[in-house]
Amino acid sequence: TLSVDLDAPGKAISPDLLGIFYEDLNYAADGGLYAELLQNRSFEYRASERSSWTNFTAWQLEQRGGAEGRWELGDARPVHPRNPHYLHLRTTALPDESTDAAVGISNAGFDQIPVTAGDAYEASFFAYQTYNGIMWRDADQSVPMPVTVRLEAADGTVLAEQSLEITGRAWTKYAATLTPTRSDDHARFVLLMHRLGGVALDMISLMPHDTFKGRPNGLRRDLAQAIADLHPKFMRFPGGCLVHGQGAHRFYDWKNTLGPLEGRESARNLWGYDQTFGLGYFEFFQFCEDIGAKPLPVVAAGVSCQHSGHSPGRGQECLPLEEMPAYIQDVLDLIEWANGPADSTWGALRAAAGHPEPFGLTYLGVGNEDAITPEFEARFTLIRDAINARYPDIVVIGTSGPFASGEDYEKGWAFARATDVAMVDEHYYVPPAFFWDNQQRYDAYDRDGPLVYLGEYAAHEPNRRNTLRSAIAEAAGLISYERNGDLVRFASYAPLLARRGHTQWHPDMIYFDATQVYPSANYYTQQLFGHHGGDTYHTTTLEGLATDTRLVAGTVSDSTTGDIILKIVNGEAEPQTVDLQLAGLGGPTTATRILLTGPAADAVNEDGEPPVIAPATDTLTLSPTTTYTAPAHSLTVLRFSR
Ligand code: AHR
Repeated sequence: TLSVDLDAPGKAISPDLLGIFYEDLNYAADGGLYAELLQNRSFEYRASERSSWTNFTAWQLEQRGGAEGRWELGDARPVHPRNPHYLHLRTTALPDESTDAAVGISNAGFDQIPVTAGDAYEASFFAYQTYNGIMWRDADQSVPMPVTVRLEAADGTVLAEQSLEITGRAWTKYAATLTPTRSDDHARFVLLMHRLGGVALDMISLMPHDTFKGRPNGLRRDLAQAIADLHPKFMRFPGGCLVHGQGAHRFYDWKNTLGPLEGRESARNLWGYDQTFGLGYFEFFQFCEDIGAKPLPVVAAGVSCQHSGHSPGRGQECLPLEEMPAYIQDVLDLIEWANGPADSTWGALRAAAGHPEPFGLTYLGVGNEDAITPEFEARFTLIRDAINARYPDIVVIGTSGPFASGEDYEKGWAFARATDVAMVDEHYYVPPAFFWDNQQRYDAYDRDGPLVYLGEYAAHEPNRRNTLRSAIAEAAGLISYERNGDLVRFASYAPLLARRGHTQWHPDMIYFDATQVYPSANYYTQQLFGHHGGDTYHTTTLEGLATDTRLVAGTVSDSTTGDIILKIVNGEAEPQTVDLQLAGLGGPTTATRILLTGPAADAVNEDGEPPVIAPATDTLTLSPTTTYTAPAHSLTVLRFSR
């Protein structure tokens, strides 16, 4: 018997429970959410132990119609000091300037460049003409260098073309709009020079006009929409482990992600590939605003990732204490940048970027899965106290280390309680059974202590696949988080995004390639809780269950719509029939039912095939007493009004 007394007073819970955790992992930014179509646009890719990249990766020298040319890496006169490398391109032999002979470069993007007939793409680059030299003394510097920028189909057909002239010795930005006449999923970007001579090139970009909400320097529309469709109430960014960067002097630097793109210093990220930071803090905050999510940035707590091996012991490298004041100032500047008036030092930068109004930052994470050492505690406290003193309305979120239990977890929580940390970020990647076995986890947490942000969690199968079993286990977890929504303020599945072929971590919530988005079963669990959350919890009891039956339920109501939402999660391999006792319902009412289930516990949604696990909506009549059968391995959402 499943009973809810709708007349009994409910318990206020977090109206913001479900959100997202974004990290540039699995090509989530470049080659992912960030709409840039060219790879290695600023010739800054570098080799590492995980890749054989060079500054030329993704580029190809083109020598057409008998022309001959050379390319070299330049670093003597960069377009910006933070963007040290660029390309010298030279035509050294040209049979006849009146023919199609040309020297140039091409880029095939991140695996491929998909273009759509009739859509506009903004091609842009910085360039200057190079001096005549021994190799190319025939070049005449008194006339501009004619170039064409093109989109070419895989078979070489020109899909769109614009002519430009590069002139002068100063770095100048050139731009052209390319509108392909035909769609092609494997187009190439080509830039060709049509006479003897040379140019220096950098920041070569191809951006679709059709970005999410039409934002310039924007986000890939389909991916951003898939995220928006979750209805996230908050967004944590830019990571995870990523915020630690590559050590104490190379933490993720939010200031480096602002302003002109050519001035954002690219870096090898903690996941082994280069980041352009084209998707930076302004773009994150703007996206939050566009999707109605509260921004929740995270900064390093003055210590590096405990896994990074930069120092003996646990691998935690610490910023020297004498350097903490400058680091703390950076954190305070972030708050001023987000919330300060447009005439404040940092607020002015936000205003100059096009957002004079404050972004309304309320939450700030300090630290991520840190080893709870005295060094961490000292640095966290310095940062937290400085924020509290200057910005008492900002809620600082601490960390309980990487696990759901164990020494760090205990130490993290003891430290947080002892020092009155407002909210603690917990993480767990655990087998599906954990979510069933820990239904009472948060019931036992001290209500007088810090609030909980479950910042990263996922059910991990042994084969790390996105099974129905894992999605249903997470739904069971979410039932317990809603029930404890007075304590659990936020929860975000992790990781969010993964590009096929470039994935460092499984499972993830949303997979994609160059042209398609593939929501996992777990995506739909998140979406249903995102759409059907509430701000009041109503005591929901299940009686008469055989011991260890995997069946849980919870009821919330949403004061903005007045709707009541009853969720039932069945993790059993057999349907479960319950007598619903809805005291206070009055009479029969029509409920919307959204059912998430699939053919088997091991079922997964396969790329490119219709999803076998996706929500289906119908209606049913609910009476004060109703018999309901929850299908095997299912999440049922019943939404109704009284
Ligand atoms: O979500 C992937 C990683 O898992 C995060 O970067 C880190 O916080 C956790 O260990």
